[in-house]
Amino acid sequence: MRTMKGRDLLTLSDYTKEELEKILQLSLSMKHDVKCGNYTRPYLSGKSVILLFQKPSTRTRLSFDVGVHQLGGHPIYLNWNDLQLGRGETIADTARTFDAYADGIVARVFKHTDLEIMAENARAPVINALSDLAHPCQALGDCLTIIEKKGKIEGTNVVFVGDGNNNVCRSLAEAVLKLGGNMTIASPNKYQISQSYADYIKKGAAKGSSLTLMEDPKAAVKDADVIYTDVWVSMGQEAEKEERMVAFRPYQVNSELLSNAPSDVIVMHCLPAHRGLEITDEVIDGKNSVVWDQAENRLHAQKGIMALLI
Ligand code: CP
Ligand code: NVA
Repeated sequence: MRTMKGRDLLTLSDYTKEELEKILQLSLSMKHDVKCGNYTRPYLSGKSVILLFQKPSTRTRLSFDVGVHQLGGHPIYLNWNDLQLGRGETIADTARTFDAYADGIVARVFKHTDLEIMAENARAPVINALSDLAHPCQALGDCLTIIEKKGKIEGTNVVFVGDGNNNVCRSLAEAVLKLGGNMTIASPNKYQISQSYADYIKKGAAKGSSLTLMEDPKAAVKDADVIYTDVWVSMGQEAEKEERMVAFRPYQVNSELLSNAPSDVIVMHCLPAHRGLEITDEVIDGKNSVVWDQAENRLHAQKGIMALLI
């Protein structure tokens, strides 16, 4: 296995099944340590990690901040608009400057290509904390949750209901396929995962995994082990709000949809949730929901990622 030290994590595509499993294994063991009261493993001792955010965040920002701290490092939160970036300094020059001081760069951006520019100009690993294209750290945390709740990803039926072409769905599909699961995406045709991205992630898929695209959410959840949803309007898509609200209305994850799924299905949402839109109170607060474990696992998964990459 190639060393992961120094590598960027912009999407999951540069990582093999074995590498993803290694990250998940380390994350699980670090979670176990935390549960036993042992918070710190000094993987990042003496190191500084920049957390650069161009969009709002609650979970990602906090879990990276706490994660760096628990690994013995120093997290530095930076808001994009507070930097000279906001006044026009280039991303390349900013990345070179970051490189002069810090050992790792975690960044949430609007345009995925901005992450690529950062990665080209910094030797320090660049970790995607969400872009318009992908949310790989979310997907790894989610895989941790699926493994904990369902025992494994291999052969597990994961059904995403909603905006099939968004960052969270793309990275989840990529992870599930790579780890040998079955991914179904129920989405209106107009918002279904793009054919080009579907073809791209199928190339990295494990033997025995499958990707099924469909429109009907009820038929999609029939054999689901996991039902997953996310917002209908992602950050940066606000101008499309009216049209999206109409298109996704039949894709709400509610009790009626759940009645079509096996009774032990788990319900996941990356959060933040718009209660009453993509998911009802009854479901997100109900017995099938694992959203709080899922949010917690962001911390453990990202510690695994940082320990191996930085
Ligand atoms: N799921 C997620 O990335 O949440 P935040 O936007 O709060 O970071
Ligand atoms: N798809 C959502 C995820 C938020 C964590 C967005 O990009 O806004």
